[in-house]
Amino acid sequence: MAWRFLKFCATASFVATLLTGSFARGASGTATAAPIVLTGADRRPAMSLDGDWATIVDPYFSGLFSFHHEEKKNGWFRNYKAKPDDPFPTEYDFGKAAKLTVPGDWNTQRESLMYYEGPVWYEKDFSYDPKPKTHIFLHVGAANYKSWFWVNGEKVCEHEGGFTSFNCEVTQALHAGGNFVVAAADNTRHEDNVPTLETDWWNYGGLTRDVSLIEVPERFIDQYDLHLSRDEDGVIEGWVHVVGAAQGTSVEVQIPELHARASAEIGAEGRTALHFSVKGLERWSPETPKLYKIVLRAGEDSVDELIGFRTIEVHGTDILLNAKPVFLRGVCIHAEAPYRTGRAYSNKDAETLLGWVKELGGNFARLAHYPHAETMLRAADRMGVMLWSENPVYWAVQFDNPKVLAKAEQQLDEEINTSRNHAAIILWSMANETPNTPARTQFISTLASRARSLDSTRLITAALLVRGQGNTKIVDDPLGNVLDVIGTNEYIGWYEGRPDKADTTQWQIAYEKPLIMSEFGGEAKAGLHGSDKERWTEEYQADIYRHQLPMLNRIAQLRGMSPWILMDFRSPNRPLAGIQDEFNRKGLISEQGKKKQAFYVLQKAYKERTVGNPK
Ligand code: GCU
Repeated sequence: MAWRFLKFCATASFVATLLTGSFARGASGTATAAPIVLTGADRRPAMSLDGDWATIVDPYFSGLFSFHHEEKKNGWFRNYKAKPDDPFPTEYDFGKAAKLTVPGDWNTQRESLMYYEGPVWYEKDFSYDPKPKTHIFLHVGAANYKSWFWVNGEKVCEHEGGFTSFNCEVTQALHAGGNFVVAAADNTRHEDNVPTLETDWWNYGGLTRDVSLIEVPERFIDQYDLHLSRDEDGVIEGWVHVVGAAQGTSVEVQIPELHARASAEIGAEGRTALHFSVKGLERWSPETPKLYKIVLRAGEDSVDELIGFRTIEVHGTDILLNAKPVFLRGVCIHAEAPYRTGRAYSNKDAETLLGWVKELGGNFARLAHYPHAETMLRAADRMGVMLWSENPVYWAVQFDNPKVLAKAEQQLDEEINTSRNHAAIILWSMANETPNTPARTQFISTLASRARSLDSTRLITAALLVRGQGNTKIVDDPLGNVLDVIGTNEYIGWYEGRPDKADTTQWQIAYEKPLIMSEFGGEAKAGLHGSDKERWTEEYQADIYRHQLPMLNRIAQLRGMSPWILMDFRSPNRPLAGIQDEFNRKGLISEQGKKKQAFYVLQKAYKERTVGNPK
């Protein structure tokens, strides 16, 4: 019980500090470090904090803001060990609070929270024995949308962005034995968020992916990049960054299966370049998703990675995978959990969704409209599914607001620096369906340049809107100038005309670049049958696909397609009672796993290779 008493004191004095405003005395006055990005965090030994957390719903965020709406610097939460004569109000009593499971959105865990948008407090006790000369990070797979964290009453970090992982240093805040972590997650939408107020997906809030404690040595590898050279056959190149190590520290990389080993010394800025030849390397591809065990060492730190090696590039209007033209037979995927619904996070969710892509005869998935969980990326590496990963610059974010650009850049950096070693990811998408304005083009051009500077080994794309004049579709959004691969969305047969309008539609593409039809399709309620002239029936949806495919084949530079969407997903924009019931029904499969007729139309085309060129 001793540690609980300690915790009571820690919290009481912490709250006392808070309430009496004498912040200087408590640790609460310390500024918190920004969270860091760890590449391959899931490859580190970790103590999971997943499971039940005590939770308190706080719609007015009075736990963080005073009644004059000043931020309280370190939040306000009652220690639920408070004694009856405790002078402070005990409303915030985690000991009596209901539980939520982490990871997981709160919307689908508690009916009263399905529509909730606002702050929720989380609390969890845990025992820990910190080792000397180690850094301990609180790893958060994702928290939507803004989040704050305290350990033993000391604020350790805050983060904005609902779909990227981050790591808060907690070394100083932890002590041996009993500890507790408090978090606040707030999914309130704001116009200057990324994404902004309006999206066509459910605003699932909370600690939506895994939470754990990761230990690394005093000098540790935080980021690294290893990839196959495009220009030199059989050469692996990249870099490793080490925190806290002296210039000249040696970094070593080993690929045991290839009997390959290389080493180099880090420079003044903690980073070393790597460049070494290997023999007998089997390249990663959807047909042969070969992954190699990699051991990275620097001082007393080591990371065991699993990395596939391939090249991806553009040549004229072709996309070349391992120097050969490839056609991306894909489909879009939202991070909606099959069967249980809600925010997907688990390996099982990932393997179910990507298993359906493989069953479809697909080799590609567009992960819409935000970075998906690490489990999805690892599964795609293993299963051989190429990926389009997307920064959530969706629709009309505030393109003329420098603060919003900074948020989009932060999320792009987190996405790329976390996920840069996944062979499956071949495309970084900058945006989806943004309005063609000078401010937008400048904003996204800045992001595209930043992505290229962070990672020159992948292709840059975005899903553009198309201009329509009668039966001619024109793709000439100026943003296409800064893309390697043009993505464009169209809904002929659903939002525009009937399915047979596709038969007479011509396409004009203003760029001699590969084109991916990044969205098309229509809605159907699984099990609803009727004529193929009746909207919402499976027959109508299938008819859209039957007319789309020959049209797509007439686009000479089409090099991929990702119809919208693999599985029905929850969205507040889809209220049609008895049909949508707050689900967007463009899925080829219902959220309960029921395949619709359109699934089989597309599957036949993919398996018989009757769509897309080069074959
Ligand atoms: C848009 C958008 C999707 C949306 C889809 C639809 O193109 O990119 O996010 O869900 O169309 O209307 O169903």
